[in-house]
Amino acid sequence: MSVLTENNRPQLMDGMGRTIVNLRISVTDRCNFRCTYCMPADNVEFMDRDKLLTFEEITRIVQVVSKMGIYRLRLTGGEPLLRKSLPVLVAMLAAVEGIEDVAMTTNAFFLKQQAQSLKDAGLKRLNISLDALDQDKFTEVNRRDCLTQVLEGIAEARRVGFKSIKINAVAVKNFSESEIIKLVEMGREQDLEVRFIEFMPLDADKIWERGKVLFGHEIVDIINKKYPLEPIKDSLEIGPASEYKFTDGKGKIGIITAVSNPFCDYCNRIRMTADGKLRTCLFSTNEHNLKELIRGGANDEEIENKIREALVIKEPGHKINLDDFERPTRAMHAIGG
Ligand code: GTP
Ligand code: 5AD
Ligand code: SF4
Repeated sequence: MSVLTENNRPQLMDGMGRTIVNLRISVTDRCNFRCTYCMPADNVEFMDRDKLLTFEEITRIVQVVSKMGIYRLRLTGGEPLLRKSLPVLVAMLAAVEGIEDVAMTTNAFFLKQQAQSLKDAGLKRLNISLDALDQDKFTEVNRRDCLTQVLEGIAEARRVGFKSIKINAVAVKNFSESEIIKLVEMGREQDLEVRFIEFMPLDADKIWERGKVLFGHEIVDIINKKYPLEPIKDSLEIGPASEYKFTDGKGKIGIITAVSNPFCDYCNRIRMTADGKLRTCLFSTNEHNLKELIRGGANDEEIENKIREALVIKEPGHKINLDDFERPTRAMHAIGG
């Protein structure tokens, strides 16, 4: 018998007593950008297409987890919009009983063409990566000269009526400082929540070092000087961002302090890679093969049991700040963030 939450949903708990409500689904490891904090500049080896879960296989897994207590989904990549007919998948997932929220994290390059069909298919929320508003800086960090397309994608997403759009900016020391106020001002003008993310050791080039992280408190200091901030209580209980509102009442920002102040005690999520591996932590060094199970003809109960077994041993937290930290073998684009 499963425990029900106050909303009458089944409550899915991990071995540490954390309630898991969120599944992040990577639909491809491919990307049309080559962001320095994520991918190598060239010679990237991608998964063969026949290794990817089909839309039907993804939906089957979502049907199982929704009965277990997961009700929020986020589609990720690489770049999820590179996966053909993605709105079809969005509609399939939005129709699964118990799923209340289907969201996506994208680089926005293809949003101009696809925003309307994604909205029509039932996508509720969009998080968009945008690290710099200076054209040269954008091209330097993303290794593609595409700032205009990204801004047009954001404009189109707003035009078609997406209510919740967040901007994700990875914050790198001695690079991002000049972009912070510009991004904050864009957020305030366009009613977008801008979130700054501490650079994490998940880049394919392995250039990460602590000295390259622009820390959350440094970002808050920069913003506070021009636009005074006030912390919003308990935001970490919902997602990875510590949120702050502007004291003049015009909007809010988020800071994702994955390195300086890990939020693992509040973790409410698991991940599935495009090739069907369940990862119980962004930094997991082991995975649970769901694809093998479903392609081998497993029934729903067997899939559920495998997921429950994985959750019992879900990592208490990442070890970036400890001597025995071990990088996952997959880089960010093959995990999905
Ligand atoms: P919402 O809170 O639903 O808006 O989404 P999100 O912030 O969880 O998703 P998004 O894909 O926008 O992630 C923003 C940043 O937070 C990315 O850099 C992610 O890698 C990072 N992030 C998301 N989940 C976790 C997590 O469990 N652990 C860590 N360390 N970082 C995470
Ligand atoms: N550190 C922090 N955030 C990262 N992202 C990609 N790589 C890194 C990294 N090494 C972010 C992207 C995207 C989200 C899924 O993860 O900017 O918004
Ligand atoms: Fe692509 Fe996102 Fe990685 Fe950038 S962060 S290379 S947009 S997957």
